Amino acid sequence: MGTFSRDTQESCNGLEKTNLQTMTSTIQTSKGLGFAPWYKYQNFWYPEHLLSVTLDMQATFKAQPSDIILATMVKSGTTWLKAIIFAVVNRHLYASTHKNHPLLNSSPHDCFPFIHSIYEKNNQNQLDSMPSPRLLAVHVPFSHLPASITESGCKAVYLCRNPKDVFVSLRHYLDKMKPVGCEMTPFDEAFNLFCQGVFPFGPFWDQMLEYWRESIKSPEKVLFLKYEDLKEDLAENIKKLAEFLGCSFSAEEVKRGVVEEIVQLCDFETMKNVKANKEGEHGALVRFKNSSLFRKGKIGDWKDHITPDMAKRVDKIIEQKLLGSGLMF
Ligand code: A3P
Repeated sequence: MGTFSRDTQESCNGLEKTNLQTMTSTIQTSKGLGFAPWYKYQNFWYPEHLLSVTLDMQATFKAQPSDIILATMVKSGTTWLKAIIFAVVNRHLYASTHKNHPLLNSSPHDCFPFIHSIYEKNNQNQLDSMPSPRLLAVHVPFSHLPASITESGCKAVYLCRNPKDVFVSLRHYLDKMKPVGCEMTPFDEAFNLFCQGVFPFGPFWDQMLEYWRESIKSPEKVLFLKYEDLKEDLAENIKKLAEFLGCSFSAEEVKRGVVEEIVQLCDFETMKNVKANKEGEHGALVRFKNSSLFRKGKIGDWKDHITPDMAKRVDKIIEQKLLGSGLMF
């Protein structure tokens, strides 16, 4: 595990008095669901390297009212929704059928970066040169977003997914990215931790509830989406998304099949077979293979990994945690 650098400490203006190294030695830690420990910061769990950049981002990120923020639960289809939003917002610049479309030549993570990746690379100047609307992604809970995002009036789209599928997807992903010589937390132990709320940027129920409540309170600012709904009817959800983002499809576009073209462009098999997604890498301090972002892309894969008793246990927890919120899984 790395430690927080002095530069990072000094740039965390909002936490000037906080010595991050002292902080990490005093805050609650837990075994992670993969191969490294995680830290609990203001009720949410963070992998160490993402806690320091999040603090930096909270303190210094300046949102613009036209920004589009994609906030997601990890392994909920972030890469997919990045591609969809990019294609929708830029459809007048790039026809989805064109062989030179950016999504056929680069990773969605290059077209639609995570704010934390920009900070990890210490490449904040990139933010100034991005075309408007800037497409920026985060995994952090709503309460940990930089204040400038919530104050600027920019729109946020939130995506989550059945937590059992997310758990299984995350385990596969972490197993693929674990450094040589590192051991994974055993499956049953990781599942217990998950049920106790140990989850990146989670407990997952708290993360979902924060965005859910915000989407009810300010539906014009926060759109709440589920992976399962996108899988069920992507075309309808693309139209809903475009309307929310203020770039609705015209009747003529719908007639011309523009929505269907975006569905095709962002189809699992299409995306998986793009060279940049098959052979490229992503990440800042640590590099990961883009291919690890495309596994099965199915609903209900958890059934091959989680026993019915384990499923009952987590379903009960979710039911209790979401009780009365109107949100269900
Ligand atoms: P599985 O591991 O269950 O297959 P993220 O991008 O947030 O890391 O999410 C990764 C999950 O989204 C993986 O789930 C991956 O296969 C799935 N995914 C990626 N692209 C997809 C697409 N175009 N359609 C549906 N699912 C997709």
